[in-house]
Amino acid sequence: MKAVQVTRFGDPSVLTLVDLPDPEPGPGQVAIDVTHAAVGLIDLHARQGLYKDREGLPQPPYVPGLEVAGTVRALGEGVSGFTVGEKVVALPGNGTGGYASVFISQQDRVISTEAYGIDPALAVAAVPNAIMAHIALTGAIHLAAGESVLVHGALGAFAATFPGIARQLGASRIVGTVRTARTGAAAATKLPYDAVVDSDDLPGALGQEKFDVIVDPVGGTLRTQSLDLLAPSGRLLLVGNASGDWEHTIPSNAMWYGNTVVAGFNAGGYIPAHPETIPPAARAALEAVAAGLIEPDIEILPFADAATAHEKLENHSVNGRVVLVP
Ligand SMILES: NC(=O)c1ccc[n+]([C@@H]2O[C@H](COP(=O)([O-])OP(=O)(O)OC[C@H]3O[C@@H](n4cnc5c(N)ncnc54)[C@H](OP(=O)(O)O)[C@@H]3O)[C@@H](O)[C@H]2O)c1
Repeated sequence: MKAVQVTRFGDPSVLTLVDLPDPEPGPGQVAIDVTHAAVGLIDLHARQGLYKDREGLPQPPYVPGLEVAGTVRALGEGVSGFTVGEKVVALPGNGTGGYASVFISQQDRVISTEAYGIDPALAVAAVPNAIMAHIALTGAIHLAAGESVLVHGALGAFAATFPGIARQLGASRIVGTVRTARTGAAAATKLPYDAVVDSDDLPGALGQEKFDVIVDPVGGTLRTQSLDLLAPSGRLLLVGNASGDWEHTIPSNAMWYGNTVVAGFNAGGYIPAHPETIPPAARAALEAVAAGLIEPDIEILPFADAATAHEKLENHSVNGRVVLVP
């Protein structure tokens, strides 16, 4: 199969196009002929060596990529419920293998898109992250109908799935924040935000508005500012650290005074402990994407340009998602 490998930790030039033996599905696994593989910030973090020597996380040489769309190629022993040729997406599993023309997934991570007529580039760009957004908003933070939601880094790959899922769950108002360079793209977005404001102008850009739930994949200064943007008994949901501020700490006394909750959600730990959350979240995500509630900008590049894809994310020159094709 055709694949892109991280040959050693380093800059995007370590991404190398290679030919590898076709993998076979083991018991309980599904082999997928990949048509589209999503590129995520976590792929960059792993390639840069942020997870060097961390047990269970990818060490070179490895094939990066967590999410793929394609068709079922073969079923491993004991797998039922899928037919060869069926259109599917795969949720992140062990954190590797996506940038390849054949992907092996555990069967409970494979979601059929066949009945929904979703374009595969959109499917891989939106469905896995939307599934995680649904699980985060329901399981981790218990979003209730009528509540207001603020989403930081509003056009980012993961963030972009939250307004559609929040809308579906009955949120009353959904506002996004983006940096100044992204305000033009935000004005043109099809994502269902009621408003998008410049995060560099916080808190003034929001007037006196406060939110029941704040979704924060960015971290750093924005995370600290968020504590003052929460309504009484509001919940701050930490889902990432796109700012790269790994030393950030939360002022716990501000939480005490503000009656606020700070909760973390990491799909890599949460979903294995709560596998029962996948089927309802998958239904919700597929319905939201099919209804046009989650339409991020998508840029498609060939596997051979994987280094360019990583550079674009590193340079912050992507308005939505980058998707690779074999
Ligand atoms: N919890 C989970 O299960 C889960 C699932 C998926 C992803 N994640 C995490 O979520 C984070 C985002 O991942 P992604 O794939 O969505 O990345 P992405 O597409 O690159 O999106 C990152 C977003 O954050 C914004 N951003 C970066 N630095 C910022 C700063 N200093 N101030 C304000 N905004 C900033 C970016 O804005 P610009 O466009 O202006 O740069 C962009 O909109 C990562 O930490 C990833 O590991 C977590």
